Amino acid sequence: MSNSLQEEILKLKDEKNAIILAHNYQPKEIQEIADFLGDSLELCIKASKIDDKDLVIFCGVDFMAETAFILNPDKKIVIPTLEAECPMAHMLPEDVLLEAKKEHPDAGVILYVNSIAEAKQHADTLCTSANAVKVTESLPHDKILFGPDKNLGTHVAEKLDKEIIHVPKDGHCYVHRLFHVEDIELKREQHPNAEVICHPECNINVQNAADKVMSTGGMLKYIAESDKEEFIIGTEVDMITRINAEVPGKKLYPLLEGAICETMKLHTLEKVRDALVNEEPQVTLPKDVAEKSRKAVEHMLNAS
Ligand code: 13P
Ligand code: SF4
Repeated sequence: MSNSLQEEILKLKDEKNAIILAHNYQPKEIQEIADFLGDSLELCIKASKIDDKDLVIFCGVDFMAETAFILNPDKKIVIPTLEAECPMAHMLPEDVLLEAKKEHPDAGVILYVNSIAEAKQHADTLCTSANAVKVTESLPHDKILFGPDKNLGTHVAEKLDKEIIHVPKDGHCYVHRLFHVEDIELKREQHPNAEVICHPECNINVQNAADKVMSTGGMLKYIAESDKEEFIIGTEVDMITRINAEVPGKKLYPLLEGAICETMKLHTLEKVRDALVNEEPQVTLPKDVAEKSRKAVEHMLNAS
C-alpha cells in the first residue's frame, strides 16, 4: 500500500473503531484498505458478526449495505456514495412481487439478495449466487416464485425438479448480459489450456458453454485449490484483481475486458475517507421493512 489517502483511512478507521466491508468488484485501491472482502453471502455472514465495531463502511451496492443494516439495525451503516445502486435489484418493485404472489398463492418465494428491501420483506427466504440451489431445495414448495434474476433462476431450475416462475419475466444484470458464447469460443482459441469459469448471472447458454459456474467467492476458492494455472473469468473484471492479490502464480484472463459494474466503481478513496469523517451517508430502512426482511435473511443464513 503506497497511497497517503489509504494511510489516512486506516488511521481514521482505528480511531472510529470502524470496519470496512467491500465486495469483490471494488477497485484495487479499495480492496487494499478493506478489512473484509467477499461475495454477497460472505458479506452477509460477516455483517451478522460485527458486534465489536461502532461503525460499518460498506463498499458495495445498495442492496448489500441494506442487508448489513437489516442484520444490524442499531449500528451505523455508511455507504460512501448512495448512488451505488444495483440496477437489477430495482427490476423487482414491491407491487410486481405482490401481484405475482396473488397469482400463485401456492408458490414459495425466493428472492436473490440483489433485491430491494421492500421486496425482500415479502419473501419466504433469500439466496445468493453461492447458495441459490441449496436454499431453493430447502423450501418445501414444488412451485417457486424466483426473482429478480432470470439467469440465476434458470440455473436453479436446471438443477432441481421444481417449477420456477420468474418474477419479473426478464430480470437481469446488464454486466453479465454482455457475455456471449462467441466470447468463450474466442478466448478458448487464445488460451487453449485455460478453464472457463462464469457467474450464474450470465445467460444460460453462456453458463452451459463454460466449464464451471459459481459465485465470485466460489471462484476465488476454486482457483486457489486448483492445480490448473490458467483461467478465463466470466464476471466483473475486478474479480481478477482480488484473485491476483491472493492467489499468486495463476494466469487469469477476463472473458470481456469491458465487463465493468459502473455503480460499484462510484466509491473512491476520497469518498471512503469522507464517509469515515462524517459518518454519512447512512443506510437506513423503515423499522417494519427491516424487521420483516430480517426473517428472510435469517432463513437464508440458516439454510446455507
Ligand atoms: P456474488 O455474490 O457472486 O459476489 O455476486 C454478486 C453480484 O452482484 C454479482 O453481480
Ligand atoms: Fe448488480 Fe450486476 Fe453490478 Fe452485480 S454486477 S452489482 S448484479 S449490476
